[in-house]
Amino acid sequence: MSYANTQVAQIAAISNNRCIGKGNDLPWHISADLQHFKQLTTAETVNAIKGIVIMGRKTFESMGSKPLPKRVSFIITSQLDYAQQQGLEGKDNAYVVHNLDDALTQAASLAHGAHLETIWVIGGEKVFSDALLYTDRIELTHVDTEIEAGDAFYPQLPSDFTVAQQSEQMHDDKSSLDFKFVTYQRRATN
Ligand SMILES: NC(=O)c1ccc[n+]([C@@H]2O[C@H](COP(=O)([O-])OP(=O)(O)OC[C@H]3O[C@@H](n4cnc5c(N)ncnc54)[C@H](OP(=O)(O)O)[C@@H]3O)[C@@H](O)[C@H]2O)c1
Repeated sequence: MSYANTQVAQIAAISNNRCIGKGNDLPWHISADLQHFKQLTTAETVNAIKGIVIMGRKTFESMGSKPLPKRVSFIITSQLDYAQQQGLEGKDNAYVVHNLDDALTQAASLAHGAHLETIWVIGGEKVFSDALLYTDRIELTHVDTEIEAGDAFYPQLPSDFTVAQQSEQMHDDKSSLDFKFVTYQRRATN
Protein backbone atom coordinates (compact mmCIF):
# COMPACT_ATOMS: atom_id res chain seq x y z
CA MET A 1 0.00 0.00 0.00
CA SER A 2 1.27 3.47 0.96
CA TYR A 3 1.35 6.44 -1.37
CA ALA A 4 4.52 7.51 -3.17
CA ASN A 5 6.62 5.68 -0.53
CA THR A 6 4.92 7.50 2.33
CA GLN A 7 2.97 5.57 4.95
CA VAL A 8 -0.71 6.46 5.05
CA ALA A 9 -2.38 6.13 8.44
CA GLN A 10 -5.93 6.86 9.54
CA ILE A 11 -6.96 7.92 13.01
CA ALA A 12 -10.52 7.94 14.37
CA ALA A 13 -12.56 7.45 17.49
CA ILE A 14 -15.56 5.22 16.90
CA SER A 15 -18.52 3.95 18.93
CA ASN A 16 -19.70 0.33 19.06
CA ASN A 17 -22.06 1.14 16.18
CA ARG A 18 -19.14 2.78 14.28
CA CYS A 19 -20.44 6.33 14.73
CA ILE A 20 -17.81 9.08 14.49
CA GLY A 21 -19.93 12.22 14.36
CA LYS A 22 -23.25 13.83 15.14
CA GLY A 23 -24.37 17.35 14.19
CA ASN A 24 -20.89 18.10 12.79
CA ASP A 25 -19.25 17.47 16.16
CA LEU A 26 -17.73 14.52 17.97
CA PRO A 27 -20.40 12.49 19.80
CA TRP A 28 -18.31 12.65 23.03
CA HIS A 29 -15.55 14.62 24.71
CA ILE A 30 -12.72 12.44 25.98
CA SER A 31 -9.65 14.53 26.69
CA ALA A 32 -7.28 11.53 26.75
CA ASP A 33 -8.40 10.73 23.22
CA LEU A 34 -7.79 14.29 22.01
CA GLN A 35 -4.34 14.05 23.59
CA HIS A 36 -3.75 10.72 21.82
CA PHE A 37 -4.77 12.29 18.48
CA LYS A 38 -2.43 15.22 19.03
CA GLN A 39 0.45 13.00 20.07
CA LEU A 40 0.17 10.61 17.12
CA THR A 41 -0.33 13.27 14.45
CA THR A 42 2.51 15.48 15.76
CA ALA A 43 5.93 13.87 15.35
CA GLU A 44 8.88 14.57 17.64
CA THR A 45 11.11 16.25 15.13
CA VAL A 46 13.19 19.39 14.87
CA ASN A 47 11.45 20.27 11.59
CA ALA A 48 8.98 23.10 11.46
CA ILE A 49 6.40 20.72 10.02
CA LYS A 50 5.61 18.10 12.65
CA GLY A 51 2.67 16.43 11.02
CA ILE A 52 0.52 16.30 7.89
CA VAL A 53 -3.21 15.71 8.05
CA ILE A 54 -5.85 15.25 5.36
CA MET A 55 -9.50 15.94 6.06
CA GLY A 56 -12.86 16.66 4.48
CA ARG A 57 -14.31 20.16 4.54
CA LYS A 58 -16.85 19.36 7.28
CA THR A 59 -14.20 17.95 9.60
CA PHE A 60 -12.16 21.14 9.10
CA GLU A 61 -15.22 23.22 9.99
CA SER A 62 -16.03 20.96 12.97
CA MET A 63 -12.64 21.94 14.43
CA GLY A 64 -13.40 25.65 14.20
CA SER A 65 -12.17 26.12 10.58
CA LYS A 66 -8.59 26.47 11.82
CA PRO A 67 -5.54 24.52 10.68
CA LEU A 68 -4.17 22.26 13.44
CA PRO A 69 -1.19 23.75 15.31
CA LYS A 70 2.30 22.51 14.26
CA ARG A 71 0.78 20.45 11.43
CA VAL A 72 -0.02 21.09 7.79
CA SER A 73 -3.68 20.55 6.90
CA PHE A 74 -4.99 19.46 3.52
CA ILE A 75 -8.69 20.22 3.24
CA ILE A 76 -10.77 18.51 0.55
CA THR A 77 -13.81 20.27 -0.89
CA SER A 78 -15.55 20.52 -4.25
CA GLN A 79 -15.89 24.30 -3.72
CA LEU A 80 -13.38 26.02 -5.98
CA ASP A 81 -13.40 29.29 -4.03
CA TYR A 82 -13.08 27.67 -0.58
CA ALA A 83 -9.49 28.80 0.11
CA GLN A 84 -10.42 32.38 -0.71
CA GLN A 85 -13.69 32.14 1.24
CA GLN A 86 -11.82 30.91 4.35
CA GLY A 87 -8.83 33.25 4.04
CA LEU A 88 -6.49 30.31 3.47
CA GLU A 89 -4.85 31.53 0.26
CA GLY A 90 -1.09 31.85 0.52
CA LYS A 91 -0.91 30.01 3.86
CA ASP A 92 1.81 27.40 4.26
CA ASN A 93 0.00 25.39 6.93
CA ALA A 94 -3.27 24.76 5.09
CA TYR A 95 -3.96 23.77 1.50
CA VAL A 96 -7.35 23.38 -0.12
CA VAL A 97 -7.59 20.58 -2.68
CA HIS A 98 -10.49 19.24 -4.69
CA ASN A 99 -10.04 15.47 -4.64
CA LEU A 100 -8.37 12.79 -2.54
CA ASP A 101 -5.67 12.01 -5.11
CA ASP A 102 -4.42 15.59 -5.05
CA ALA A 103 -4.47 15.56 -1.25
CA LEU A 104 -2.43 12.36 -1.09
CA THR A 105 0.03 13.39 -3.82
CA GLN A 106 0.70 16.83 -2.35
CA ALA A 107 0.81 15.52 1.23
CA ALA A 108 3.23 12.73 0.29
CA SER A 109 5.48 15.16 -1.53
CA LEU A 110 5.52 17.51 1.46
CA ALA A 111 6.18 14.58 3.83
CA HIS A 112 9.13 13.54 1.72
CA GLY A 113 10.66 17.03 1.91
CA ALA A 114 9.97 17.32 5.64
CA HIS A 115 11.38 13.83 6.40
CA LEU A 116 8.07 12.63 7.80
CA GLU A 117 7.26 8.94 7.37
CA THR A 118 3.51 9.17 7.73
CA ILE A 119 0.61 11.21 6.46
CA TRP A 120 -2.58 11.12 8.50
CA VAL A 121 -6.12 10.82 7.20
CA ILE A 122 -8.33 12.29 9.92
CA GLY A 123 -11.87 12.06 8.46
CA GLY A 124 -14.71 12.23 7.96
CA GLU A 125 -16.74 9.34 6.65
CA LYS A 126 -16.13 9.49 2.89
CA VAL A 127 -12.49 10.52 3.20
CA PHE A 128 -11.84 7.57 5.53
CA SER A 129 -13.60 5.20 3.20
CA ASP A 130 -12.03 6.50 -0.06
CA ALA A 131 -8.53 6.50 1.49
CA LEU A 132 -8.71 2.90 2.76
CA LEU A 133 -7.24 1.66 -0.51
CA TYR A 134 -3.97 3.50 0.22
CA THR A 135 -3.92 2.99 3.99
CA ASP A 136 -1.23 0.97 5.80
CA ARG A 137 -2.26 1.52 9.40
CA ILE A 138 -5.37 2.51 11.29
CA GLU A 139 -5.42 3.91 14.80
CA LEU A 140 -8.90 3.50 16.27
CA THR A 141 -10.12 4.60 19.64
CA HIS A 142 -12.98 2.24 20.42
CA VAL A 143 -15.44 4.10 22.61
CA ASP A 144 -17.72 1.68 24.43
CA THR A 145 -21.06 3.29 23.69
CA GLU A 146 -23.89 3.18 21.15
CA ILE A 147 -24.65 6.54 19.55
CA GLU A 148 -28.21 7.17 18.46
CA ALA A 149 -28.98 9.44 15.52
CA GLY A 150 -25.34 9.82 14.53
CA ASP A 151 -24.70 11.10 11.01
CA ALA A 152 -21.10 10.12 10.21
CA PHE A 153 -19.73 6.59 10.44
CA TYR A 154 -16.41 4.80 10.13
CA PRO A 155 -16.30 2.12 7.39
CA GLN A 156 -15.84 -1.61 8.04
CA LEU A 157 -12.16 -2.52 7.93
CA PRO A 158 -11.04 -4.57 4.95
CA SER A 159 -10.16 -8.14 6.00
CA ASP A 160 -6.41 -7.68 5.51
CA PHE A 161 -6.19 -5.38 8.55
CA THR A 162 -5.30 -7.14 11.80
CA VAL A 163 -4.78 -5.92 15.34
CA ALA A 164 -1.11 -5.09 15.89
CA GLN A 165 -1.36 -3.50 19.31
CA GLN A 166 -4.01 -2.53 21.83
CA SER A 167 -4.18 -0.68 25.10
CA GLU A 168 -6.06 -1.77 28.17
CA GLN A 169 -9.62 -0.55 28.54
CA MET A 170 -9.52 2.94 30.06
CA HIS A 171 -12.17 5.07 31.71
CA ASP A 172 -12.98 8.74 31.23
CA ASP A 173 -14.42 10.10 34.45
CA LYS A 174 -16.01 13.20 32.96
CA SER A 175 -18.03 11.39 30.30
CA SER A 176 -18.21 8.07 32.21
CA LEU A 177 -17.17 6.32 29.00
CA ASP A 178 -14.79 3.38 28.62
CA PHE A 179 -12.44 3.36 25.66
CA LYS A 180 -9.31 1.70 24.32
CA PHE A 181 -6.72 2.44 21.65
CA VAL A 182 -6.22 -0.21 18.96
CA THR A 183 -3.67 -0.21 16.14
CA TYR A 184 -4.60 -2.13 13.01
CA GLN A 185 -1.90 -2.92 10.49
CA ARG A 186 -2.40 -4.08 6.95
CA ARG A 187 -0.90 -7.49 6.23
CA ALA A 188 1.84 -7.23 3.65
CA THR A 189 1.01 -8.70 0.26
CA ASN A 190 3.61 -10.12 -2.06
N1 LIG B 1 -14.66 10.49 15.66
C1 LIG B 1 -13.67 10.86 14.86
O1 LIG B 1 -12.57 10.37 14.94
C2 LIG B 1 -13.95 11.90 13.81
C3 LIG B 1 -12.95 12.25 12.89
C4 LIG B 1 -13.26 13.20 11.91
C5 LIG B 1 -14.52 13.76 11.87
N2 LIG B 1 -15.43 13.38 12.78
C6 LIG B 1 -16.82 13.90 12.74
O2 LIG B 1 -17.33 13.58 11.47
C7 LIG B 1 -18.21 14.63 11.03
C8 LIG B 1 -17.66 15.24 9.76
O3 LIG B 1 -17.46 14.22 8.81
P1 LIG B 1 -18.37 14.03 7.53
O4 LIG B 1 -18.22 12.63 7.11
O5 LIG B 1 -19.74 14.54 7.81
O6 LIG B 1 -17.71 15.05 6.51
P2 LIG B 1 -16.20 15.22 5.95
O7 LIG B 1 -15.76 13.96 5.29
O8 LIG B 1 -15.33 15.79 6.97
O9 LIG B 1 -16.47 16.34 4.87
C9 LIG B 1 -17.28 16.04 3.78
C10 LIG B 1 -17.00 17.07 2.74
O10 LIG B 1 -15.66 16.94 2.30
C11 LIG B 1 -15.58 17.22 0.92
N3 LIG B 1 -15.11 16.03 0.22
C12 LIG B 1 -14.88 14.80 0.75
N4 LIG B 1 -14.38 13.99 -0.21
C13 LIG B 1 -14.30 14.71 -1.33
C14 LIG B 1 -13.84 14.44 -2.65
N5 LIG B 1 -13.35 13.23 -2.99
N6 LIG B 1 -13.88 15.44 -3.57
C15 LIG B 1 -14.34 16.66 -3.23
N7 LIG B 1 -14.78 16.98 -2.00
C16 LIG B 1 -14.76 16.02 -1.06
C17 LIG B 1 -16.96 17.66 0.50
O11 LIG B 1 -16.98 19.06 0.74
P3 LIG B 1 -17.93 20.10 -0.06
O12 LIG B 1 -19.33 19.79 0.40
O13 LIG B 1 -17.45 21.42 0.39
O14 LIG B 1 -17.70 19.83 -1.50
C18 LIG B 1 -17.86 16.93 1.49
O15 LIG B 1 -19.12 17.50 1.67
C19 LIG B 1 -18.24 15.61 12.20
O16 LIG B 1 -19.33 15.24 13.05
C20 LIG B 1 -16.92 15.38 12.89
O17 LIG B 1 -16.98 15.77 14.25
C21 LIG B 1 -15.17 12.47 13.74
